[in-house]
Amino acid sequence: MAQSVGIKDIAREAGVSVGTVSNVINRPDTVSADTRERVQSVIDRLGYVRSESARQLRAGHSRIMGLLVLDMGNPFFVDIARGAERVARDAGLGVMVCNSAQNPAEEAEYLSLFAEQRVRGVLVTPADMTGRTIETLRRYRTPFVLVDRVAEDATECSVSVDDVAGGALAMRHLIEMGHRSVAYVCGPPGLQQITDRRAGALKALAEAGLPADVLRALPTDRLDVAAGRDAGARLLGLTERPTAVFCANDLLALGVLQALYAADVRVPEDVAIVGYDDIEFAAAAAVPLTSVRQPAVTVGELAARLLLEETAEGAAEEHEHRQVVLQPELVVRTSSLRPR
Ligand code: RIB
Repeated sequence: MAQSVGIKDIAREAGVSVGTVSNVINRPDTVSADTRERVQSVIDRLGYVRSESARQLRAGHSRIMGLLVLDMGNPFFVDIARGAERVARDAGLGVMVCNSAQNPAEEAEYLSLFAEQRVRGVLVTPADMTGRTIETLRRYRTPFVLVDRVAEDATECSVSVDDVAGGALAMRHLIEMGHRSVAYVCGPPGLQQITDRRAGALKALAEAGLPADVLRALPTDRLDVAAGRDAGARLLGLTERPTAVFCANDLLALGVLQALYAADVRVPEDVAIVGYDDIEFAAAAAVPLTSVRQPAVTVGELAARLLLEETAEGAAEEHEHRQVVLQPELVVRTSSLRPR
């Protein structure tokens, strides 16, 4: 493999000192215009690329921000990545996106990789609900911001959306549409955001003076479209079929919609459906999906900003850790509207 071009090669070729080449790269305003142009043309001609590892050794971290998501197949996390990348790019950083697939062991491997790469810090939606994620990050001394999860410790930053409020929005809407038998397609146990959505739905039932058993849990083993299709099939097999379905996210809702459509069950006439996240495909579905919208791009932007603020040079003293909680909003579409 060809020897990489070094700063000494540039200096020799341009007939200047190594210090002058360094100034052209790092402090160009300290070098005269013609020297700067002469050195820059040699850099371009020889294809010199400055050594990130050398810079990293000096700065103590790389120009990479880690992002560890629960499910790369879920457009919700793509939107979070979009927001984080926008802020990171403006700060001259790149984003390394890794997917825990809700698997704590895979999550642990990526946390170790981020530490080895000396990333600036990590935005993470923990897959491990026992707190081990945070313990590991602290052990590695990797700065982090929790995403889609409220930090329980005031010394941690987090950006999340009020999922209790979101669940209540969904259920209030279904109550208003006249539904008194609702299935909650809730994915696997353990994710706080999913638990909070159910708690919000139960709160709305209580506020309306309705019993909790209006809402019937329909657990699935994953939070994707296939799991939604499976839940839809089980729904069709129920002797007393609910008149509405509240799904813990839009991927589940799209799967339920597919299963009902395949069985000639009409949505919303026979069964109303409400999803959560308001991903791009919700509006584009065969029956446009009512959903509780999470401002995912904003979540990503704010989380990246908090991480940059916390890891800025000399920020240790004045950085104020914040637990930002944003509000969801209900986006009503055809899938839950009461037929005229
Ligand atoms: O990761 C599962 C779900 O939790 C996503 O769809 C999103 O709603 C997140 O909050």
